[in-house]
Parts: sequence; C-alpha cells; structure tokens
Amino acid sequence: MTPVRQKEMGVMESNNFLAPQSMHSDYVLVNKGKEAPTRFAALAAIYDPQTICHLETLGVACGWRCLEIGGGSGTIAKWLADRVGPTGAVLVTDVDTRFLEPLRGPTLDVRAMI
Ligand SMILES: C[S@@+](CC[C@H](N)C(=O)[O-])C[C@H]1O[C@@H](n2cnc3c(N)ncnc32)[C@H](O)[C@@H]1O
Repeated sequence: MTPVRQKEMGVMESNNFLAPQSMHSDYVLVNKGKEAPTRFAALAAIYDPQTICHLETLGVACGWRCLEIGGGSGTIAKWLADRVGPTGAVLVTDVDTRFLEPLRGPTLDVRAMI
C-alpha cells in the first residue's frame, strides 16, 4: 500500500500489522454504530451456542493456541480464553477492536488488523 493510500485509509504500520488509525472499513455493519451493541447481543444470543458447540466438538482445551479473525464483541474470544486457560493463548483480531480491548488479558491478545 502506498503512503498516500495509507493516509487516505487512515492506516499506520504497527508491530508488523496494519492497524486502523481511525476506525474505517469497507465492512457495512461498522462497530462504531450506535446499534452495534444491540446487534452483537442478538448475534451472540442466536449464534454463540452453535459456535461453542462446534468448538467443543473440535476439542478446544487447556493449552490450545487459537486465532479468531473478526472477533466483534468478543464473546467467542472470551469463551476461548477461558477454555484454553493460563497455558493457552488466544489472539483475536478485528478492523475495529473497541469491544475487544476490555477483554485483553494474559491469555487473550487483541490486534487491530485489516
Ligand atoms: C459478526 S461480527 C463477529 C462475530 C464473531 N466472530 C462471532 O463468531 O461471534 C463480524 C466482525 O468482523 C469484523 N470484520 C469485518 N471485516 C473484517 C476484516 N476484513 N478483518 C477483520 N475483521 C473484520 C467486523 O468489524 C465485526 O466486528
């Protein structure tokens, strides 16, 4: 990406990742929207049980190292971090990490990535 394009997109280099400086994305359902918490709560209520069922079937357990891309509100990242425990690690990314940052902890790392 050219420096001009980076400036247009508000992107900066950070720790070898491209991190959004101002929250932008071509993604339509942006996390900065006022309705985002309600939307995420609805998505979690509808889909988290199935997602967790899949993850349990996969056998996610203590010590696993997991990557979630597009973590949204972080409910699944939080579940993963609880599941892998202190010997595991979870990296969760999003173009807009505003809901993920509060979840950051010893086993849960958060990166803004496009
Ligand atoms: C439906 S929500 C996440 C749901 C969550 N993964 C789950 O299973 O409950 C989709 C998220 O993907 C993020 N997203 C969209 N495009 C992305 C991209 N190119 N890279 C990373 N995250 C992206 C959005 O910002 C949004 O927070």
